[in-house]
Amino acid sequence: MEAKAIESKKKGEAEKDFLPLSGTDYVEFYVGNAKQAAHFYRSAFGFNALAYSGPETGVKDRTSYAVRQDRLTLVLTSSLRPDTDIAQHVAKHGDGVKMLALKVEDAASAWEETTKRGGKSFLKPTTLTDDFGKLVMSGIYTYGETVHLFIERKDYKGPFMPGYKDWKTAYNPPSTGLKYVDHCVGNVGWNQMNKWVKYYEEVMGFRNILSFDDKDISTEYSALMSKVMSNGNGYVKFPINEPAKGKKKSQVEEYLEFYNGEGCQHIAMATNNIIETVTELQNRGVEFLRVPGNYYDTVLDRVGKIDEDLAPLKKLGILVDRDNEGYLLQIFTKPLQDRPTLFFEIIQRKGATSFGKGNFKALFEALEREQELRGNL
Ligand code: FE2
Repeated sequence: MEAKAIESKKKGEAEKDFLPLSGTDYVEFYVGNAKQAAHFYRSAFGFNALAYSGPETGVKDRTSYAVRQDRLTLVLTSSLRPDTDIAQHVAKHGDGVKMLALKVEDAASAWEETTKRGGKSFLKPTTLTDDFGKLVMSGIYTYGETVHLFIERKDYKGPFMPGYKDWKTAYNPPSTGLKYVDHCVGNVGWNQMNKWVKYYEEVMGFRNILSFDDKDISTEYSALMSKVMSNGNGYVKFPINEPAKGKKKSQVEEYLEFYNGEGCQHIAMATNNIIETVTELQNRGVEFLRVPGNYYDTVLDRVGKIDEDLAPLKKLGILVDRDNEGYLLQIFTKPLQDRPTLFFEIIQRKGATSFGKGNFKALFEALEREQELRGNL
């Protein structure tokens, strides 16, 4: 009887999500040259101009360009002066992800609930207003210098947010079919993965839905461990990687060295037609990691029947994996900036809810070939 009461109390607690999230609101990069970066994400990836913030809109120390494709919004921000947090961030980390902004109904409650559970405040609940209404935002730090902003925009009707103006341009490249953020992966230091798992559980109410140890993710030379954290409704998923011991330097160590600390390793963006999307991205000059051609000799033995023809997948270098619920198609870009740090994953899910475990080995061997070319293996 008592056990049952405890169990139902636990169930009641589990059902009440103290941090309800309805997905990713935007991803903000701190970069050396926002104007040029915005052009790159538009021309290469098919994002369109959305909004601009800078001296002309009353913001004196920075410029920010917001670009959008379907439900994906990126913000590229750079400093106009040498002594700002943005300039220091770029000097230390290179171009990289600063804010993983999440959509909430109540940004004040999100901040209160997370900071009282141990989250370190980045921004107290702040209301911004302009002619289009009001937007409330708050934020907490996560791994490294990365921040989760909580964005409440139910009373805001403007193009992006107060401080920004509409950005109109004659150059509007066609979409490449990218739809929304599927997941964002963080790289953390040696033996730090479980600390951040606990952080997402305790501070943000996430659950650990999948774990990979160094036996799952190892090549002849290197290894890593990973745990996938998900919020209650599954709209927000954050896998966390840490390096594991191997014969040579792992990709996570290379990242930590060049990013100068912990940070966002990749953002996975979903498409409904990966063959069309990747064809278009490759035509626009986006470079992808390639696995050896013999990957395709055995892939269908491993994953079974799929809807797509193998020939275009092989031509483009798209990988396939299957779990109990279905299959997925995925491919990874080379680093998006000079440092071997952040990259994108393009993913199409056909039922599968996992992350491509069957591809890890081939993929990490491909990564190691690139690392070796850079002299960092
Ligand atoms: Fe991924």
